[in-house]
Amino acid sequence: MKFLQALQALHVLFFLAPPVISSQIPFQETPEAEAFQVYQSQYSEHHSIRIKQQQNDKLCDAHSKQYTGWLDVGNKHLFFWYFESQDKPSEDPLLLWLTGGPGGSSMVGMLMELGPCLINEHGNGTYYNEFGWSKNANILFLDQPAGVGFSYIDEGTPMPATSFTAAEDMHHFMQLFVTEVFPDLKKWEFHITGESYGGHYVPILASQIVTQNSLYPKRPQVNLASIFVGNAYVSPLHTAFGYWETLCSTNPGVDSPVLNTTRCDIMAANLPRCMDLANICYAHPDTAICTAAGEVCWDGVIVYYDGESGEGGRNRFNIKDPCYTRDDLCYYEAPAIQKYLNLPSVWKALHVPKAVANYSIISEEIAIAFSLTKDEGISTQPHVLYLLENGIDVLFYQGNLDLACNTAGNHQWASSMPWKGQPAFVAQPKRSWEHEGKEVGWFKEVKVKMGVHERETTFAMSTVNGAGHMVPYDKPKEALELVQRWLTKRSYV
Ligand SMILES: *[C@@H]1O[C@H](CO)[C@@H](O)[C@H](O)[C@H]1NC(C)=O
Ligand SMILES: *[C@@H]1O[C@H](CO)[C@@H](O)[C@H](O)[C@H]1NC(C)=O
Ligand SMILES: *[C@@H]1O[C@H](CO)[C@@H](O)[C@H](O)[C@H]1NC(C)=O
Repeated sequence: MKFLQALQALHVLFFLAPPVISSQIPFQETPEAEAFQVYQSQYSEHHSIRIKQQQNDKLCDAHSKQYTGWLDVGNKHLFFWYFESQDKPSEDPLLLWLTGGPGGSSMVGMLMELGPCLINEHGNGTYYNEFGWSKNANILFLDQPAGVGFSYIDEGTPMPATSFTAAEDMHHFMQLFVTEVFPDLKKWEFHITGESYGGHYVPILASQIVTQNSLYPKRPQVNLASIFVGNAYVSPLHTAFGYWETLCSTNPGVDSPVLNTTRCDIMAANLPRCMDLANICYAHPDTAICTAAGEVCWDGVIVYYDGESGEGGRNRFNIKDPCYTRDDLCYYEAPAIQKYLNLPSVWKALHVPKAVANYSIISEEIAIAFSLTKDEGISTQPHVLYLLENGIDVLFYQGNLDLACNTAGNHQWASSMPWKGQPAFVAQPKRSWEHEGKEVGWFKEVKVKMGVHERETTFAMSTVNGAGHMVPYDKPKEALELVQRWLTKRSYV
């Protein structure tokens, strides 16, 4: 969960180039394996899912049935925690949640933000979350790519290092999950959601699903209806550009700008060079060029805030909050989750195989592996475009106090995306949306008939005032309302 700024990461890690190989031992047939029911793919001998129902609410007071297990994809083993809807499991949609990073465990999203249970302050238990998203949806939390959280890799297998490798494994997972494990789910709408670096994972995985569905119409189809991502890392260039508006104006919802005019003046003067180089990196995604762009943007713009983050310093995820902890996340809950998920009682209930040495909320190995590829430097705007062209609805939602994946930058790439809905999106003013009589934030939404599709495809942005990077953490009630409106009517009007 470092939410590494692409360019900055390349800048820092460019010279570390040893091949990143997992040191974990292969999964062996142990008594632990007997706790699971195993579903073997009919289409590939290399894919199977082992799953067990959690018989009680000791680990997580979910108010619905819950299952845990691993997908075994050849040498990779992906951990999931699945909660049925608290309302109508056999009719409600299926959501897949992916926390960002790269390298962040989705257990952070589950236990800190939107799961049916949240971590307690001691890190020794959980409590029911009345604003959990499983209120009206079946929801899957998945630790990915392999190597993250409780997911693991057999010895000698290279670490996944791009969102594209991750997406191939995940597509197989979804296919198996909705056809073999819970065949009823095949009928219901499927939505992929996530946060932060999820702005890379989600559009790339969704594109993989659309492509595979159309290439292999006779194989099990994954009924993808929409994607929605919170404070998404889509375009590094626009994120850097958005630093100025977020820190030097009152637009995020602050009484006065966070930085003084001296600093803002320097940042503004440095921005054109940062933009020039970042554009060259987009056109020619070569590591040397992107590294140079990263250095210029870091030294000229980003450092004026991020250079002072850390314990007791500034918080990149909420410009109004200080940073409380020594890790990159700045929140007390993160170390508490790590403590909880390493408890022997939790390992016993989950039947964690010995191959997982230790649960960590962030895999440094995966973060490094990604930083050595182009993954963090590219924009996923083309993937969003591809989804819209194929009739998939798209929402980007934003906590307005976030800097790391700021509203200003995301609004800018959303406006600059060349597609049929662009003129209407650009022309539309920001409208406010309310919940229980109070203004929550602003939204823009366009509905357009795309290609051969009869129904209109929706592209929307909606924001939440007073929330930082993790909207369900800062504003749980508003976040649940935001998601329910999207799932039921794709509209904030
Ligand atoms: C968790 O820790 C607190 C504080 O040490 C303690 O009072 C409480 O009994 C603990 N709960 C469990 C379930 O162990
Ligand atoms: C602007 O802020 C920086 C960093 O906090 C500080 O060093 C500098 O003195 C400030 N400049 C003015 C004119 O207040
Ligand atoms: C597990 O990992 C965490 C964080 O990476 C570390 O603080 C802890 O000491 C590790 N525990 C063991 C038993 O290795």
